[in-house]
Amino acid sequence: MTTPKKPVREKKVRPVTIHDIAEKKRAGERIVVLTAYDALFGRLVDEAGVDIILVGDSLGNVIAGHSSTLPVTLAQMIYHASAVRRGVERAMIVIDMPFLTYQVSVERGVLSCGHAMQRSCAGAVKLEGGSPQILETISACVRAGIPVMGHIGFTPQSVHTLGGARVQGRDPESAERLITEAKGIEESGAFAIVLELVPAKLAGEITRALSIPTIGIGAGVACDGQVLVLPDLLGLNDTFNAKFVKRYASMADDVRSAVSRWAEDVRNGAYPDDEHSF
Ligand code: KIV
Repeated sequence: MTTPKKPVREKKVRPVTIHDIAEKKRAGERIVVLTAYDALFGRLVDEAGVDIILVGDSLGNVIAGHSSTLPVTLAQMIYHASAVRRGVERAMIVIDMPFLTYQVSVERGVLSCGHAMQRSCAGAVKLEGGSPQILETISACVRAGIPVMGHIGFTPQSVHTLGGARVQGRDPESAERLITEAKGIEESGAFAIVLELVPAKLAGEITRALSIPTIGIGAGVACDGQVLVLPDLLGLNDTFNAKFVKRYASMADDVRSAVSRWAEDVRNGAYPDDEHSF
């Protein structure tokens, strides 16, 4: 009688934590952050080895087709973050908190963030802004055990107040305000902070002034890490052209070409052939 072989267990991957992210800044290693909105791309991005996957409310623009992130709801964010969670083994997942779920009061903010973490199993939340109330909300979340990533500079949920997607901190007064906000976010206990559309020199100054990592998007190379919106990087969202976006693929062209070749095959009876039939 042969004894059955023990099933070979695949080695479990250790997920990235906020401590790994802090260590990267100490070690001078750059942090790689990318958005994803579903299990399929979450898995591919994870397999490519990014450190953090941000389930950004940019999904309002790139997935839902809105002209801003304002219509995105908490239920939609939870749906997308849960899908990403199912596809990802290693990267840390950050869920973006949508408009009006944390700006009204500290108590409501903590409850919304806790609910988002509980329902999506993300590892952290991201909040936009650096007002005194946001700082209090960050502190209260951290006390409740919720890791928080901050976000200053151009904050898309304030697009109407800011008058469009503009570079922030160009004049001395607003630059000083961003430095103060960044320090406040660090003191409130955030583990990292996104700097969006900030002059490269100022982003470098903020990065050197903080012990938590800065993650730049349109904020130059001196940040501790970089984030991009996945469909922009892949050239899938080919109607969006911003100076900071570098396309590493032309997937919109690939999709159009693949679909039109398949349609042609369907129309002329070349698909399905024997190889693709039972
Ligand atoms: O929603 C998002 O994708 C973001 C990044 C652009 C930082 O907030």
